[in-house]
Amino acid sequence: MALLSVHHLTKHIKISKGLGASLRGPHASWIKPVEDVSFSIEEGEILGIVGESGCGKSTMCNLLSKLDDVTSGTIRLNNEDVTNVSKGKALTHYRKQVQLIFQDPFDSLNPRLRVFDIVAEAPRALKLWEEPEIARRVSTMLATVGLPPERYAQRYPHQMSGGERQRVGIASALIAEPKLVIADEPVSMLDVSIRAGVMDLLRDLSRRLNFSCLYVSHDLSILTHLCDRVMVMYLGQLVEVASSKELVSNPQHPYTRALVAAVPVPDPRYKRQSIAIKGELAKPIDPPAGCRFAPRCSLAMPQCSQTPEMKSVGESHVVACHAVSVSELSGVGPSDRRYLQNIDQQT
Ligand SMILES: Nc1ncnc2c1ncn2[C@@H]1O[C@H](COP(=O)(O)OP(=O)(O)OP(=O)(O)O)[C@@H](O)[C@H]1O
Ligand SMILES: [Mg+2]
Repeated sequence: MALLSVHHLTKHIKISKGLGASLRGPHASWIKPVEDVSFSIEEGEILGIVGESGCGKSTMCNLLSKLDDVTSGTIRLNNEDVTNVSKGKALTHYRKQVQLIFQDPFDSLNPRLRVFDIVAEAPRALKLWEEPEIARRVSTMLATVGLPPERYAQRYPHQMSGGERQRVGIASALIAEPKLVIADEPVSMLDVSIRAGVMDLLRDLSRRLNFSCLYVSHDLSILTHLCDRVMVMYLGQLVEVASSKELVSNPQHPYTRALVAAVPVPDPRYKRQSIAIKGELAKPIDPPAGCRFAPRCSLAMPQCSQTPEMKSVGESHVVACHAVSVSELSGVGPSDRRYLQNIDQQT
């Protein structure tokens, strides 16, 4: 059974207009950063989200971590509908199970608290344990993320490097023993030299402490190194989901192909096939109906004005594109069938 399943998740934001614009026309404009997205995360799985800036990755994280309300669609955690959880005990229970690691290790830590109190904040707020037990667990967690408590527990954030601060962020997220960790570009603000260390730590901890992870990045090479599966978003829509290996070796959606073609290969003899995406980076304000990638797609055809359904093209591999030839449902693997049936049940 999936730990988290998301069905037709949608977020629309109405843009408030000035008086002049309101007088010129009656129609409101809408930003549509997440549109009809369905996927699931299995227990212990690391699932990546990749897509260019503004495609809705952080909005998705905010919806799943209850920092923002959904417009429509459902979120189920352990098969329980948590879509409308927004306050009280239900929200506290949700926060114990789902924790967020922030992008910015410089801004996300309270500069007036020592590391010990930063990590102890969540268990204290959630009233998880008595104070001696919290102290014991904070020390253990600091040691687990590679910050020996005797050296780091009494420091302030400004007395640490970016990589060390991000380790504090990871310790804060993991101390409550969540089932799901949502990591929104947790290494993008760090030096390249320490990124690999933080990512390896996260992967190692997810195996040891057995939590699932939704890991966001706009860098496909990071995700294929870290994740079991990767899903590709374009302008709020999910366009392809596959295992990391399958996605890079057999990309199907024209946008995914362009992303894969852009990943550097450390071999001077390798002859790259460059795939250009035409046109400007689009904005999610009043996006076109149908496939949102169509205006930039070299394979676009008349059907693309209709939103393509998510279809299976192989084991654990689904894609939403009219131009991609599709195998029949009877010919696909069990995980694809489960994915498609899950989606069908909700429609
Ligand atoms: N509350 C809001 N009001 C107005 N626009 C919003 C709001 N939230 C998100 N957006 C817009 O929705 C789009 C998606 O934003 P989001 O932060 O999810 O992108 P992202 O994929 O995380 O990008 P990045 O890789 O740059 O972090 C952007 O164009 C953003 O300006
Ligand atoms: Mg973002």
